Amino acid sequence: MSRIAYVNGSYVSHREAAVSIDDRGYQFGDGIYEVVFIIDGHMADEGPHLDRLDRSLSEMSMPWPVDRTVLQMIIARIVRLNQVKNGLVYVQITRGVAKRDHKWTKPLKPALVVTAKNTAKNIPKEIPAVPVISVPDERWERRDIKTIQLLPNCLAKQKAYEAGAYEAVMIDADGSVTEGSSSNMWIVTKQGELITRPATHKILNGITRRTVMAVATEMQLKVVERNFTIEEALSASEAFLTSASSHVTPIGSIDEALIGDGTAGAVAKRLRVTYIEEVTS
Ligand SMILES: Cc1ncc(COP(=O)(O)O)c(C=O)c1O
Repeated sequence: MSRIAYVNGSYVSHREAAVSIDDRGYQFGDGIYEVVFIIDGHMADEGPHLDRLDRSLSEMSMPWPVDRTVLQMIIARIVRLNQVKNGLVYVQITRGVAKRDHKWTKPLKPALVVTAKNTAKNIPKEIPAVPVISVPDERWERRDIKTIQLLPNCLAKQKAYEAGAYEAVMIDADGSVTEGSSSNMWIVTKQGELITRPATHKILNGITRRTVMAVATEMQLKVVERNFTIEEALSASEAFLTSASSHVTPIGSIDEALIGDGTAGAVAKRLRVTYIEEVTS
């Protein structure tokens, strides 16, 4: 089956899908996006993802390219056309096409691209703990906006890949962990408290992070939003990552130093199962 993409009003073959070279997304990374987990053909956390998209657009002074309900219909159609059962949907909105110039002098028509893909036959409820590395956080100060400008994140992820690690977790100038290159990071203290960084401009407020927070609270686990360091993570009883593409993924080591015995922790395991059940229902 060949993949279908939505590009500015048309459903086209993914291979032939194209945008203008004058699109400001291509020229300047001037755009935003969302990635949504599809489970059993349905969007997980659809409302919160669209709310975050709305916030990103507003922070960038960009209008919606189509009405929210129309976007929901486009997404549902792309999921159907690509027969996505378990996978991801990407929604990308750029400021639009203009003669190359840093500033824009008039309102532009935003460009909308929606794609979807299957990632797995089944979403495994249990997975092994993964290794991560730490890298300096070299990004701008508005990490709360989900922009397509991902160069520092890509360079960090590439470093992780080259080191045989799953993710790179980023360290701010003050020594605190901000987040992963495409995920939020959590630790579980020896007292059983879940710690994750507060959602300020310093991190992307992950939708999975928020759902896991709610799930954890329902499970009577205490969640504390505060900064932590790699040293604290290494002496924690567990650590894990959350994102739309990795769900809840236990961390086994940081820079080759083990967390606990290096295997998936009990809290992360339970959270992964409960999160998957929550978004499936
Ligand atoms: C930098 C960053 N932080 C966190 C996340 C996790 O966000 P979400 O749970 O909404 O996927 C992502 C996801 O791509 C990300 O790129």
